[in-house]
Amino acid sequence: METEHKYDLSGLRNFLDTSPSPFHAVNNAKQLLEQHGFTEISRTDDWKSRTDKHFSIRDGSLIAWFSSSNCPFENGFRIIGAHTDSPNIRLKPLQEHPSTTFEQLSVEIYGSPLINSWLDRDLGMSGRVVVQTESLEQKLFLTDDPICRIPQLAIHLDREINDKGLKLNPQSHLTPIWADASPSFLTFNEWLGEQLSVKSSEIMSWDLMLHDTQRSEFLGANKEWLASARIDNLISCYAAILALSAVEKETLDTTPLVCLFDHEEVGSVSTSGASGDFLAGTLKRLMSDTSEEGRAQAYENSLCLSVDGSHATHPNYPDRHDPNHVVRLNGGIVIKRNANQRYATDAVGEAIAKKICTKAGVSHQVFSNRNDLSCGSTIGPTTAANLGVRTIDVGVPQLSMHSAREICGVKDQNDLRLFCETFFRLDGITSE
Ligand code: CO
Repeated sequence: METEHKYDLSGLRNFLDTSPSPFHAVNNAKQLLEQHGFTEISRTDDWKSRTDKHFSIRDGSLIAWFSSSNCPFENGFRIIGAHTDSPNIRLKPLQEHPSTTFEQLSVEIYGSPLINSWLDRDLGMSGRVVVQTESLEQKLFLTDDPICRIPQLAIHLDREINDKGLKLNPQSHLTPIWADASPSFLTFNEWLGEQLSVKSSEIMSWDLMLHDTQRSEFLGANKEWLASARIDNLISCYAAILALSAVEKETLDTTPLVCLFDHEEVGSVSTSGASGDFLAGTLKRLMSDTSEEGRAQAYENSLCLSVDGSHATHPNYPDRHDPNHVVRLNGGIVIKRNANQRYATDAVGEAIAKKICTKAGVSHQVFSNRNDLSCGSTIGPTTAANLGVRTIDVGVPQLSMHSAREICGVKDQNDLRLFCETFFRLDGITSE
């Protein structure tokens, strides 16, 4: 029972369970922000002299902030960045997949999922559909009904699989089944039209994806972990939004801002990705009344947290980790370092992160990748390079990263929220 647990994870679990696509993550973040007095500004409106609590959305990305006239932009921003997307399996544009025995969906792989983890799961579907009624309209779509599955080949038909390893061809082996082949069966467009209560002829296009319909769950003898899809990186999105909602502007000397980006898992190069102008363009618009010199001061006084999943040391594969940088689930905030700038944290950033942990009353651990494995990356380096703002890569440790179902520690998610709140309350800590 949720109430028996030391930490109330109901809000986080609801966010994880109901955000299977970036569009749903953004929509859920929007609702949380609205509950805390934030209002949406359209990106096509005039933003001149806007102050107070606002957010703005571009496709699968969202940016939220609050500013006030007693807190000039020159004092700098406290920016938290995270990403809304997770590796998964997505629908292709045409859905006429001929097969003599099954109706199948035509799909492609998004990002780098552990694709074996998608086999034999009961899959739902979510995303957005563009329909033409009086005008082009985007509709959010989500079904948690298990409508399809990628069935694994029986061991009797592949006797050596456990010895030789599983090899999956992304074109031929991952095509989900979703109905018996039947001449009377609805086409995909007809089915989708019924789901959305529109004519199938009104459906123009979609960004749709599959998700495991199993909900998040406490795990472990003492319920010390959380098992869920999309821990990377919705746990960071949620912590950032909650922290922004919790701080009060009267107590702040700087402008707090959260940016949730889409497309991190595929390299961030898009209109809504971290390598695009979404964040930089928004900051420019916010500071349209600030002088050029004032804007330069603002960036120099700013600090950015890039919050993303981190690897816990795997007990069965200690050889995949640097033995000197052990990371434990429920061991606290992970500060990520990499001399080759796969993470943006430098010595100053690491020191600041440690000070935030002390202030927040949470513990920290430091991650460094093994030298004989290539290191992952985050939105940190690209954000740092685009803005010229000191950026610190941190995150919550997890196992099974990029699996359809990942694991993290329940204490760590709480620490992350406290860490983000304390970050927004920082004052002159950036001085070197
Ligand atoms: Co991530």
